[in-house]
Amino acid sequence: MASLSLPFETKYLPLKKFFNIYRRSMEETEEFWAEEARQLDWFKTWDKVLEWEPPFARWFVGGQLNASYICVDRHVKTWRRSKVAIYWEGEPGDVRVLSYSTLYSEVNRFASLLRRAGVTKGDRVALYLPMIPELPIFMLACARLGAIHTVIFSGFSAQALADRVNDVQAKLLITADGGFRRGKVVPLKEIADEAVALTPSVEKTIVVKRTGISVSMKPSRDLWLDDLLIKAASFIEPEPVESEHPLYILYTSGTTGKPKGIVQSTGGYLVYNYSTYKWVFDLREESVYWCSADVGWVTGHSSIVYAPLAHGAAIVMYEGAPDYPTIDRWWDIIEKYGVTIFYTSPTAIKMFMRYGEDWLKKHNLSSLELLGSVGEAINPEAWLWFYQNIGGERCPIVDTWWQTETGGIMISPAPGIECVPLKPGSATFPLPGVDAAVVNERGEPVAAEERGLLVIKRPWPGMLLGIYGNPERYKKAYWSTFPGMFYTGDYAVRDRDGYFWILGRADEVLKIAGHRMGTAELEDAAVSYSQVAEAAVVSKSHPVKGESIIVFAIPTEGSAPSVSLKKGLSDHMRRVVGPIATPEEIYFVSKLPKTRSGKIMRRVLKAVANDLPIGDLTTLEDETSVEEIVRSYQELEKEREEKK
Ligand code: PRX
Repeated sequence: MASLSLPFETKYLPLKKFFNIYRRSMEETEEFWAEEARQLDWFKTWDKVLEWEPPFARWFVGGQLNASYICVDRHVKTWRRSKVAIYWEGEPGDVRVLSYSTLYSEVNRFASLLRRAGVTKGDRVALYLPMIPELPIFMLACARLGAIHTVIFSGFSAQALADRVNDVQAKLLITADGGFRRGKVVPLKEIADEAVALTPSVEKTIVVKRTGISVSMKPSRDLWLDDLLIKAASFIEPEPVESEHPLYILYTSGTTGKPKGIVQSTGGYLVYNYSTYKWVFDLREESVYWCSADVGWVTGHSSIVYAPLAHGAAIVMYEGAPDYPTIDRWWDIIEKYGVTIFYTSPTAIKMFMRYGEDWLKKHNLSSLELLGSVGEAINPEAWLWFYQNIGGERCPIVDTWWQTETGGIMISPAPGIECVPLKPGSATFPLPGVDAAVVNERGEPVAAEERGLLVIKRPWPGMLLGIYGNPERYKKAYWSTFPGMFYTGDYAVRDRDGYFWILGRADEVLKIAGHRMGTAELEDAAVSYSQVAEAAVVSKSHPVKGESIIVFAIPTEGSAPSVSLKKGLSDHMRRVVGPIATPEEIYFVSKLPKTRSGKIMRRVLKAVANDLPIGDLTTLEDETSVEEIVRSYQELEKEREEKK
C-alpha cells in the first residue's frame, strides 16, 4: 500500500477498486484517458493524448469526432433507435416523448436549416430559449455543423443577453415567442428584440413558437422555425471536428463586472463527461435520468444534454417552476416517468423540506435508485431529508462538486465504481484523473482539518480551453494565484479520513440558489441606476437559497432614501441582470467602508449583514462609515421585527 499515490491520506484503502483505478489515473494518466476515450466513436483516432503547454491543455490531439454523432447517430445504429431519448413535460402539462430516431431526424432537420441560414464550422450561435426540446436539438444541430453554441439562460435580461451575444459576436440568435413560468408567459421574443437592437453582429433570428402569444417579427431578420422546417433536409453529414474544436461557450460570473465566456472543447469534454457520469451516477442506457437544472447553466449542458445522451439514456426535461401548479409537481414527474436518477440542488431540497412530507406521500418514488446534489454545499439536515424522504433510505446521494470551468464533476462519490461510505455534507473524494489538493496561501498542502484553498494540480480532459477572446484573463483568473495549479476560488478542508468538504467561495462570487453571480456585476447594475452614486454588494446566508444579495447603496445628491427608491433600485437590478439579481435587502448609507487605498471592505459589510464580529479595522479609512452601516442595519432589523 505504501506505493499508492494518492493526493490525500485516507483510511479507506479497503476500497480497493476505487483507489486502484484512481492510482492508475495518476500514474498512467495518458493510457488511462486513452482507454476511456476509446469508448466513444471517433472519426479519426488521436495522435497524442495530451499536449500540456501550461496553462493550456489540448486533449486527444489529432483526433476527430462530432458531438451530435456521439449523442445521436451512434444510437440509431443500435436497438436504442426506438427507445426514449427525451421525456419532456411543459409547465401547462403538455408532454412530448422523443425516441432516439426522432431526435436523430430532428437534429438533422435543424442542422439543415442552420446551414441554409449560413451557419458554418466555427460560427457562434446564441440560444435564448426556455426549457423545451428545441433547446437540446439546436445545441446538437450546431455541434453537427461544427458551430459553437452559446446558451444564455432564459431568465437573463435583454442587457445580459446583449452583452453575451456581443462578446461572442453571434450572427444568429435563436429564441421563442415566450416560455411558461408559474402560469405566466415570459415574453422572450420581446426581450430578445430589445437585446438585438444592441447587437450589430446578429443578422438573423429564428423564433420557436411555444406559447402562441403574438410577437412582432421584423421581416428581413426574423424567421419562424416552423416555416424553415418545411424546407428542411432529412440528413446532414456530421462535420468531423478536431478534438480541441470548441463545442460551446458558456458565460459565468467572475470577480470583475464582465462575465467570462468559458470555452469547452469537443473531445476532452465529451470523454470527461461520458466517463464521470458512468462513475458518479452509474449511468446506463436503461437509466431514466432527471437533472432539474436549466440547460442555461453548465449542469444542464452536461447533465441534460451531453452526458446522458452520449450514454443513450432517457432524459427527463421539465419546463416550469418546481412547485407549480401544485407543490408535488416534481414528485408527480418522478412517478410518471419512472425516474431512476434524480439530480438537483440543495436550494430545491431545502424548499421542499419546508413544504413537509405530506406531498410526498401521494407519490410512489420507488423507481429512484440514486440521488445527486450540485451547485452549493448541502447541509447535513437537507442531506438526511433527501436521503430519507426522497430516496426512501435506499438511494445513495452523490454530492458532486464542480464548476463551469471544470466542464464536469471533479469531486464526488463514485458508486458506479465502488460505494464509498458517505458523510452528509462531504463530496468525498476526487474522481479518477483529478489531482485535487487543499493548500495554504503559499500553495503548500495544509494539514487535515485545516481550512485552505482548493486547487487542481494537473489538467483533466474537461478543463476549459480558456476564456473566449481573453487568454490573459484566463491565465490571471486560474493560474496566477498558485503557479502550475488551477485555482478554483473555493475554500475546502479535508477531514482526518481524507474526505473533502467544500466550504464556499474565497473570492467575490456569490451563490444564490446555486447560481453564480459576481459582486462586481451586481454593483455595476446597482450604480447604473440613475439615483445611486455608489454601491457595494455582499451576501447574507439564507436558509433556503444558501446566500442572498444585500446591497449597501449611497443615493445620489438630491435623492433621499425611501421605500420607492428601494423598489426602484431593486426593479432596476432585475431589469439589468435578470430576476436572479433581485436584492434581498437594500440599505441606504452615506459612506461605504473603504481601505486607505479606496477598496471597499466588503468583509466588514458582510459581517454586519450576517451579524458576525466585524474584525480588524486597522486598514479602514473612516470608522464612522462602519458605525453608520451598523446603525442603519440595526434600525431596519428592528423595523422588520416590529412588523412581524
Ligand atoms: O463554490 C462552488 C459551488 O459552485 C461553484 C461553481 O459554480 P458554477 O460554475 O455555477 O457551477 C455550478 C454547478 C457545477 C463552485 O466553485 N459548488 C458546486 N458544487 C458544489 C459547490 N459547493 C459545494 N458543494 C458542491 N457539491
